Amino acid sequence: MPRQLFVTTALPYANGKFHIGHIMEYIQADIWVRFQRLMGHQVHFVGADDAHGAPIMIAAEKAGKTPQQFVADIAAGRKEYLDGFRIAFDNWHSTDGIENHELAQSVYLGLRKNELIEVRPIEQFYDPEKGMFLPDRFIKGECPKCGAKDQYGDSCESCGAVYSPTELKNPYSALSGATPVLRTSDHYFFKLSDPRCVEFLQQWTQEPDKLQSEVINKIREWFTQDEDGKGGLGDWDISRDAPYFGIEIPDAPGKYFYVWLDAPIGYLASLKNYFDKGGPKARYGETRGYDAFIADPAVEQYHFIGKDITYFHTLFWPAMLHFSGRKVPNNVFVHGFMTVNNGEKMSKSRGTGLDPLKYLSLGMDPHWLRYYIAAKLNARVEDIDFNPEDFASRVNSDLVGKYVNIASRAAGFLAKRFGGRLSGELGVEGNVLLDGLQAHKDTITTLYETREFGKALREVMALADRVNEYVDRNKPWELAKQAGQDAVLHDVCSVCIEAFRLLTVYLKPVLPGVAAQVEAFLQVEPLTFADADRRLGAQVIGAYQHLLQRVDPKLLDALFEAPAPEKVVPGGEDIADEIKIDDFSKVDLRIARIVKAETVDGSDKLLRLTLDVGEGRTRNVFSGIRSAYKPEDLEGKLTVMVANLAPRKMKFGISEGMVLAASHADEKAAPGLFVLEPHGGAVPGMRVR
Ligand code: 2FM
Ligand code: ZN
Repeated sequence: MPRQLFVTTALPYANGKFHIGHIMEYIQADIWVRFQRLMGHQVHFVGADDAHGAPIMIAAEKAGKTPQQFVADIAAGRKEYLDGFRIAFDNWHSTDGIENHELAQSVYLGLRKNELIEVRPIEQFYDPEKGMFLPDRFIKGECPKCGAKDQYGDSCESCGAVYSPTELKNPYSALSGATPVLRTSDHYFFKLSDPRCVEFLQQWTQEPDKLQSEVINKIREWFTQDEDGKGGLGDWDISRDAPYFGIEIPDAPGKYFYVWLDAPIGYLASLKNYFDKGGPKARYGETRGYDAFIADPAVEQYHFIGKDITYFHTLFWPAMLHFSGRKVPNNVFVHGFMTVNNGEKMSKSRGTGLDPLKYLSLGMDPHWLRYYIAAKLNARVEDIDFNPEDFASRVNSDLVGKYVNIASRAAGFLAKRFGGRLSGELGVEGNVLLDGLQAHKDTITTLYETREFGKALREVMALADRVNEYVDRNKPWELAKQAGQDAVLHDVCSVCIEAFRLLTVYLKPVLPGVAAQVEAFLQVEPLTFADADRRLGAQVIGAYQHLLQRVDPKLLDALFEAPAPEKVVPGGEDIADEIKIDDFSKVDLRIARIVKAETVDGSDKLLRLTLDVGEGRTRNVFSGIRSAYKPEDLEGKLTVMVANLAPRKMKFGISEGMVLAASHADEKAAPGLFVLEPHGGAVPGMRVR
């Protein structure tokens, strides 16, 4: 019976592009998923954007977009990376999808029914100007320990102290600059300290042969209370107050789920969305719907994540599932971070980090990176490093030097001398070699299954070494020159092709595109691990086509080269041509008081301003600032006007001057219009020079 697997990777926040850390995780999961399918199992592999939360709401506002539009724009950029690196999610969804709204509310109601939800008032900083509670990272101030200025609400970057936002000296809102005030509001808590939760999690996390040992140790720390009774599993604050981009809490007006509550539920939402679209039916003939599938005890559920979000996935997530009456994950696979050049801060000229899109746009082969990452990965929670020299040498010596070479050495003779037909015989030495390669299947599949990809590839390369030694011993290039050696040459080349096919099976989870080319070359059906138990026999193969390029070090130089500094265009437009001071003094700028401001019938752009410029009379000025100001907000204010501009006849009357306002050249890139206002003390009529 094939296994049925439901596999996910962590859902990326929808406020930035993918970086190499995301790609590394997706490649790890994708290799595992492909491996399972090549073993004949059924896998549903899904991802989604993590759309909610205050940072995304604020970023959207800054960009002048609705949060929905903002996340949709980010989502539109995902495909390029995923296709580029051959990462084959079956479905990509969003935690703002309708499925997630329904599932999150259903999970919550399940917890509430189990009496695991409690409402408690808490005191928090509130931004009176923005009219919202401030997340910790949007409160800044002076460090309470060392006094460093402009530190975040949770910790000091200067001395490393950790504190709560209320301890900051002279706190201010990073959003508006206003001084935050403490306000009380009711928050909803998931009672994880409830003995039922503690008992369940103790048991779930200690199940044998499940979590990685480093993860178990971490969890043990999290469970432990110190002598003062601090630490241990605390209740979890799962609500945030409006305004918030998130999912409404049932029966709690103005309250939303904290983004981390609905984020993992997004795994289920993406799977449900995939089922509702008929994906599993089309692929595997699955007849059940989402509900029946996810409740089936035979279905295995796995989450690939980074070490920084272990807490959420090994404590909160299983508890949410279990106490809302759902099945818990079979396992959570935690990986370390990916560094580049050992995290060394690269110099300006060498650039910083590894930009995945730049990698692709340079025409670098995605299989190189997949192979390199796989070769470095193991089942532990270890960081892995991308080192350019190491990358080039592994790809060139392993993939090209050891693997691809086997085919290119044999294919030419087969085509030229034997019409592309393999010999059925292979000879004693050849058969021993191939038997040996086939005998390694179980070791290699076990290593893939346990995510020991580095070890699996070392096994495969050791087998490739054996094949190359066989070639070197039998020297087909010499056999080709000797009379009467045709049959031997035919066997040797056929052994090479058989061996190459076996190595291709073993490498296929890592090199899907290369394997597809090999299948075309060998004229065989798509290979699976079952094909490692078979031989081709005396069949005809196609013409050899080049499979993989060597890594040119110049590409790596280009990859890490700092981008040419972009010309800074202040405010979206170039500074105008130089003028002389005399040119400037021709413009008579005066302080003006806005005596009256009114809308103009028939125009949605203009305001009619009555200005006092200290002349003993007022002036009438039409100004295109209606989109940014309400008339009553301008009345009584001082501003700056061009007082010697020739009067202009407009549709609505004569305009006697112009008030000054700032704006970005590209209204879409940076919306807003800002009328100038002098510092206190200026009076109407004063000249601005
Ligand atoms: O840390 C992060 O990037 C989160 N967006 C991961 C969420 S994983 C899951 F819970 F959705
Ligand atoms: Zn400090």
